[in-house]
Amino acid sequence: MVDRRQHWETVYSTRAADQVGWFQPHAASSLRLIEGSADRDAHVIDVGGGASVLVDDLLDAGYRNLTVLDLADSALAASRARLGRRARSVQWIDADITRAELPAARYDVWHDRAVFHFLTDPADRARYVAQVLKSVKPGGHVIVAAFGPGGPLQCSGLDVVRYVPDALHAEFGAAFRMLRHETEIHRTPAGGEQEFVYCYCRRI
Ligand SMILES: C[S@@+](CC[C@H](N)C(=O)[O-])C[C@H]1O[C@@H](n2cnc3c(N)ncnc32)[C@H](O)[C@@H]1O
Repeated sequence: MVDRRQHWETVYSTRAADQVGWFQPHAASSLRLIEGSADRDAHVIDVGGGASVLVDDLLDAGYRNLTVLDLADSALAASRARLGRRARSVQWIDADITRAELPAARYDVWHDRAVFHFLTDPADRARYVAQVLKSVKPGGHVIVAAFGPGGPLQCSGLDVVRYVPDALHAEFGAAFRMLRHETEIHRTPAGGEQEFVYCYCRRI
């Protein structure tokens, strides 16, 4: 079995960033949800951010305390190259989210689009939730977007878990209050459609 890191390094080193199925020219829903929950000096982490342009959109919007974490260093390198000098103001963490050493009570906003749904092992999901509990400030916001019940069973050749909003919220538990959820149909560069569920919670 190819390990996770090797899988994603291969994806990003063999495919153009704007040709992968999850590519968005702008991370419009994520940006809107983050802008609705946090002011410009908030500490925001994009978990499994890959080569997403969310970090560009957040910098353009005036956010100053940004962290992007991913286990594929080639994806982070692509984002750094795209941002040029602006990359210096971002903290980049090359790590697996189920094992990363994150600071305690640091983040006002935790964002994840299309990462949690790859955690098919309940033990990995528990490790992920423990990371959120440790590193998101009480009162902070957690935005997780996963494939919805009408979404694909796999992404990038890997199995995923699909969620209705209540089931996604239930993975996080009573320490998180769901403020709202949204469904979005993502159009892939190849012309396909994927149903995403965005779950927007507050850490109590
Ligand atoms: C489908 S892509 C989504 C990328 C980005 N969030 C977006 O919306 O464009 C999934 C990303 O999660 C990263 N990833 C997968 N498993 C991970 C893990 N356990 N820890 C950290 N990153 C992970 C991959 O390297 C990849 O960049």
